[in-house]
Amino acid sequence: MPLVPMKDVLDAAAPQKTAVPAFNIDNLEILQSLLMAAEAEQLPVILSVGQGAIRIGRLKPLAAAVHQMASETSVPVVLHLDHGASFEQTIQCLRAGFTSVMYDGSRLPLEENIAVTRQVVAAAHAVGVSVEAELGAIGGAEDGIGGGSGGKVSVDQVSAFLDGVGVDALAVAIGNAHGLYKEKPHLDFDLLRSIEALPKAVPHLVLHGGSGLDEEAIDTAIDCGIRKINVATEIRLAYLKGTRAATSGDIYETIASAREAVVEIARQKLRQFARKA
Ligand code: G3H
Ligand code: ZN
Repeated sequence: MPLVPMKDVLDAAAPQKTAVPAFNIDNLEILQSLLMAAEAEQLPVILSVGQGAIRIGRLKPLAAAVHQMASETSVPVVLHLDHGASFEQTIQCLRAGFTSVMYDGSRLPLEENIAVTRQVVAAAHAVGVSVEAELGAIGGAEDGIGGGSGGKVSVDQVSAFLDGVGVDALAVAIGNAHGLYKEKPHLDFDLLRSIEALPKAVPHLVLHGGSGLDEEAIDTAIDCGIRKINVATEIRLAYLKGTRAATSGDIYETIASAREAVVEIARQKLRQFARKA
């Protein structure tokens, strides 16, 4: 089926109290594996193109491949820009056929983040594309972006941001971090509940840094209103482990082994976030 805007799959997840995984795609094998997993589970999936893949020239090639391969699947697929670096980059993605863009202005002063996000929303919504914003820089580095311990968002910041701009999804920093957690993370669910309970239209909430979170944390996050969970590191590690598991030196055996590893972890996450037994 044709690609769908991210808002559609998150709107559908909300009444079911489930979440949709957003997996980063770095190459064709990972992309193909993720679509195989979504098809096998008959669940929607968000495919994210991140800054690492863009840096090595894959924005347009991956977008074209997603369009082609998703047209042959029977489940809703979203093509999403992860941690968009500038207004200009979000426009490049609109031209390349993305159905969702994230603009990450979390390290800017609030007013500046609002101003650029507004521009992104005006352009994206004009062509039916969903927008995700970020508030309260998430800890850890992803694809060389960010780093440090990050900082939690405050309810007042979220409230002021939502008064300034209408986004479809909002990534919030609640003690989560990119990469594998060095120690057990303490996600601030009370903060999440207070954001969800704001007396205004709250967009779908997004949890970045999904790799390495245990089942209980994921479950509570979904209960507290998280509708999209980003997973990159665990997918990449599964892919690399899969390539190493093939020892014959045959390229197709290596691809098959990597694909099997990615399909397995992706199916697990799809089921878990959809709360399927
Ligand atoms: O934007 C992507 C994610 O936040 C990935 O985080 O690598 O910790 O799974 P992760
Ligand atoms: Zn992220």
